[in-house]
Amino acid sequence: MFDLKGQIAIVTGGANGIGRGTVNCLNQAGAKVVIADLDQYKGEKVAEEVDGDFISVDVTVEEEMKHLFKTVNERYGKIDILCANAGIFPQVALSDMTVEDFDKVLNVNLKSTFFSVKYVAPYMKERGYGRIVVTSSITGPITGYPGWAHYAASKAGQLGFIHSAALELAQYGITINAVQPGNIKTEGLIEQGQAYMDGMRANIPLHELGEPEDIGVAACFFASREAKFITGQNLVIDGGQILPEDPGAIL
Ligand code: NAI
Repeated sequence: MFDLKGQIAIVTGGANGIGRGTVNCLNQAGAKVVIADLDQYKGEKVAEEVDGDFISVDVTVEEEMKHLFKTVNERYGKIDILCANAGIFPQVALSDMTVEDFDKVLNVNLKSTFFSVKYVAPYMKERGYGRIVVTSSITGPITGYPGWAHYAASKAGQLGFIHSAALELAQYGITINAVQPGNIKTEGLIEQGQAYMDGMRANIPLHELGEPEDIGVAACFFASREAKFITGQNLVIDGGQILPEDPGAIL
């Protein structure tokens, strides 16, 4: 697919779901992958399966994020690729949403993107090379869903963030782009329940939920040397879900 042999990649939230699919794709392309996740049990298991590495990290804790990049750089001498992917999507109606609910989702999804980019950048600048891929969503930038006002704000925020970051990082040979998944069969999505998944499947023109690797291949593309002229952009990967003007348009 893409040749990432000899490259060092970090995937936050790589223990499960889309992160895990991205780890698989990066590994198949030849990269050494560091899984950075809260979930130690699954993270270590994935690391073993792909002959990678696991570092326990909470992406909302600034010192832990600094430590993550410092450790990887010391261990491997460089960081080529960062996939800032860890995220949560708890549903709560606006009428019940507390400040704590809002802050939690914004911290895990958006503030972590800031920490990721801010603290990986010095290591990439040093070598004049880097590829950053952020996992956003269709929810927020394009669509809406009841119960996800805070989530939607965080995912739209990530896209706004990368536009300015791309301009600051371009002079150092660092690109930053985003993937925008639709509904992907992950541990997190399965938690939404069967009725949610059936409803979504019915609204996808390709008639199936996505697989984590469907996002992983797009992340690998942005992470490749070949994608050198693309920065500040985003790619929707959703089986056509955002296209229909009317449910009747799905054949
Ligand atoms: P998931 O729940 O299956 O996996 C998320 C991973 O992130 C887990 O391994 C979890 O331990 C880790 N994580 C959560 N909070 C963390 C923290 N504070 N520090 C470190 N690690 C943490 O979720 P999924 O579905 O794979 O989602 C991954 C990303 O994709 C998220 O950013 C999500 O918003 C986005 N996304 C997912 C979609 C889907 O349909 N599954 C659709 C659109 C976007």
